[in-house]
Amino acid sequence: MLSLVNQKHYKNQHKFFQKAYEEGDPQWTGDGSPSSELVRTIKKIKPKLKLKHALDIGSGEGRNSIFLSREGFKVLGLEYQEQAIQQAMGKRKRGLLYVRGDVFCIPLKPCSFDVLIDFGVFHHIRRKDTATYLNMLQSMLVPGGYMILSCFSRKFKHANGKLYKRGYVVHKNHYDRFLTRAELRRVFGKHFNILKIKEVKTGFLDGIFQLKGTGRK
Ligand SMILES: C[S@@+](CC[C@H](N)C(=O)[O-])C[C@H]1O[C@@H](n2cnc3c(N)ncnc32)[C@H](O)[C@@H]1O
Repeated sequence: MLSLVNQKHYKNQHKFFQKAYEEGDPQWTGDGSPSSELVRTIKKIKPKLKLKHALDIGSGEGRNSIFLSREGFKVLGLEYQEQAIQQAMGKRKRGLLYVRGDVFCIPLKPCSFDVLIDFGVFHHIRRKDTATYLNMLQSMLVPGGYMILSCFSRKFKHANGKLYKRGYVVHKNHYDRFLTRAELRRVFGKHFNILKIKEVKTGFLDGIFQLKGTGRK
């Protein structure tokens, strides 16, 4: 499949992320701790997994990938910013690899992962490209595999204090999409069983979805 990253919008967005890493303090890394929602979710689903192969989409500086590898997962962090990968590699753990690549065109074998996580990529994908993103996710997971998602809700407040009620904004060289529970149900409901969608006060929706079909035997 042809990558969308060469389109003007995504080229600009690539520059936005590049600048954030070059400036050295990407706000989403925080103090490097994993997402507490991810920690809770993994505790719940880990006992149900036969194999523990995880893909971290847009792995950034590796805070969630590192957590998963500590939990005994074989982890692949997929990220398109070289500088983020370099940072993440500095904290390298056993069973953890990073690959430079684009979520629209993943250079990996289909059906390779039991768990896929996305903390902060989906809400930067334009509505019209949702189907392309979803096809990619589905192809990477084994049937019955889990998708763990965290994305902006309509309550997400930017640093400028603004709420974007119309559902998206294009600013500072990037696109932000603000989702509702109903939209997430619509987007994921066709191919995934919706196990949970929770809205958190900070303006995020956390979702756990399970790809329909029977898992690894
Ligand atoms: C908001 S940050 C979150 C990083 C990490 N998941 C975390 O929670 O710390 C989103 C990350 O996705 C990466 N990213 C965005 N679009 C991407 C794409 N098309 N392919 C690969 N990585 C992408 C960005 O470079 C950035 O590191």
